[in-house]
Amino acid sequence: MNGRGADALDRLTENGMREDGTTETGSLRSLALGARDAAYAPYSGFRVGACLEAADGRYFVGCNVENASFPVTMCAERVALGAAIAAGGREFRRLFLYADAEEPVAPCGMCRQALAELAPELEVQSESVSGVQARWTLSGLLPERFTLRLESVSGESR
Ligand code: THU
Repeated sequence: MNGRGADALDRLTENGMREDGTTETGSLRSLALGARDAAYAPYSGFRVGACLEAADGRYFVGCNVENASFPVTMCAERVALGAAIAAGGREFRRLFLYADAEEPVAPCGMCRQALAELAPELEVQSESVSGVQARWTLSGLLPERFTLRLESVSGESR
């Protein structure tokens, strides 16, 4: 028991995750690997798994979800971020990526912007199937993220 109550979300499924996709067991890496296995990538054949660690220690996983209408595809990173946000996560420490690639992949530009909204200083770690690892900080990958202050939007354009 983890002190947050024994509700439906605390029941563990076969792979050690709760029904909401979080877990307090297993490492960031093994969870990213498991998410990679679950990826839905029939078009590219390129599976990606992501695991995001929240500041409160919870882990959230995501995988890429492709679609016959190609631009509808969701990257693993944004799927993990969505799961985290839906469970109340707002602060994140680390992201682990595991992809079907010879070299470690870095998050795409859209995912960098999405992650930087809440975690501009996120540590990003990535591993390829050949076991090569790379590390970056999100601020290094995206030094100038887009931010929006509504009060600075010109009245004429509203
Ligand atoms: N993909 C990710 O999941 N994350 C990235 O950072 C880059 C690309 C996915 C999207 C698509 O399903 C496949 O990889 C090929 O682009």
